[in-house]
Amino acid sequence: MKAVQFHEVGGPEVLRYGDVEQQAPAAGQVRLRVAASAFNAADNGMRAGFLPIPVELPHVPGYDVSGTVDALGDGVGGVVDGGPGNGLAGGLAVGDAVVGFLPMERDGGAAEYVVVPAEAVVAAPHSIPLADAAALPSVSLTAWQALFDDGGLQAGQRVLIVGAGGVVGKYAVQLAVRAGVHVIATASPRSIDAVRAAGADQVIDHTRTDLLDALDGQVDVLLNLAPIEPEQFAAYVDAVRDGGVVVSTTAFMATPDDASRGVRAATVFVQPNRERLAQLVALVDAGELTVEVTRRIPLEELTALHAEASEGRISGKVVVLP
Ligand SMILES: NC(=O)c1ccc[n+]([C@@H]2O[C@H](COP(=O)([O-])OP(=O)(O)OC[C@H]3O[C@@H](n4cnc5c(N)ncnc54)[C@H](OP(=O)(O)O)[C@@H]3O)[C@@H](O)[C@H]2O)c1
Repeated sequence: MKAVQFHEVGGPEVLRYGDVEQQAPAAGQVRLRVAASAFNAADNGMRAGFLPIPVELPHVPGYDVSGTVDALGDGVGGVVDGGPGNGLAGGLAVGDAVVGFLPMERDGGAAEYVVVPAEAVVAAPHSIPLADAAALPSVSLTAWQALFDDGGLQAGQRVLIVGAGGVVGKYAVQLAVRAGVHVIATASPRSIDAVRAAGADQVIDHTRTDLLDALDGQVDVLLNLAPIEPEQFAAYVDAVRDGGVVVSTTAFMATPDDASRGVRAATVFVQPNRERLAQLVALVDAGELTVEVTRRIPLEELTALHAEASEGRISGKVVVLP
């Protein structure tokens, strides 16, 4: 089968597109015929050796994946519980359309086929193309975890989302609004309309307005998704009420707190959560969560995409089609 693989960490040139032996699923695993994998900044970081993730070499990138179950390992069909929440009544069967956030250290979906733990996948949304569904798993889970698990947000509270115009940000705005949270979001001119469309109650153009001046009172949670300067991030803590929370996905810098006012800091490290992913899929199918794909590229172009990401930010979500 065709795959993109790297045998050593390094620049984008370590990626090789070529033939790789197709694996059979072991007990507890299934093989997927990949519809698409999604590109994440962390794919670039893992390939470059920047992230503290013990990647098994050689490695196929692309931990967000969608596809069709093509072969079952021992015990999978009957063992995978079809109980409430996992989105797959009766367990997995050949031909099921699924989506998953795969273990990051193991092979991903930048290939024609990938063998995955059965518990890593749930039924794919049926209201969007299967390939586009690869854009959902880890980023929507990040947004959920940041808002509700790490931030503890509840209906009636206020959140300030910095960097709401990005991929995680638009999921976060939609999920927070849906949960009855008042959302104040920052966006630059190119993203203002999209953040408003996602449902933000107030959008502040951080390129033209001082954020702290524009706020009409404090918030319960500040969620930072943007590569802002640490000094600026520390200054934004003033926007959080006493006893509130500062949450950040930008794990490359420390998340500031203010212990004197009981404001705590939480840094997000996204975790797989099958039940939550099934809930997110259900929201997509209910029309309550929009999955945005900015570009669809063939697998052969993944090396060029990594090169582009190494030079600067990739805008929006790119899915990679084998
Ligand atoms: N820790 C984890 O588990 C985890 C998981 C997923 C993602 N992440 C990280 O979380 C961050 C957000 O992810 P993403 O996929 O949403 O990234 P993204 O699509 O690049 O979005 C980041 C947004 O930040 C905004 N921004 C850039 N510079 C800014 C500045 N100086 N001030 C204010 N806003 C600024 C941009 O908004 P405009 O469009 O308005 O200009 C951009 O859309 C990334 O660093 C990503 O690597 C971490």
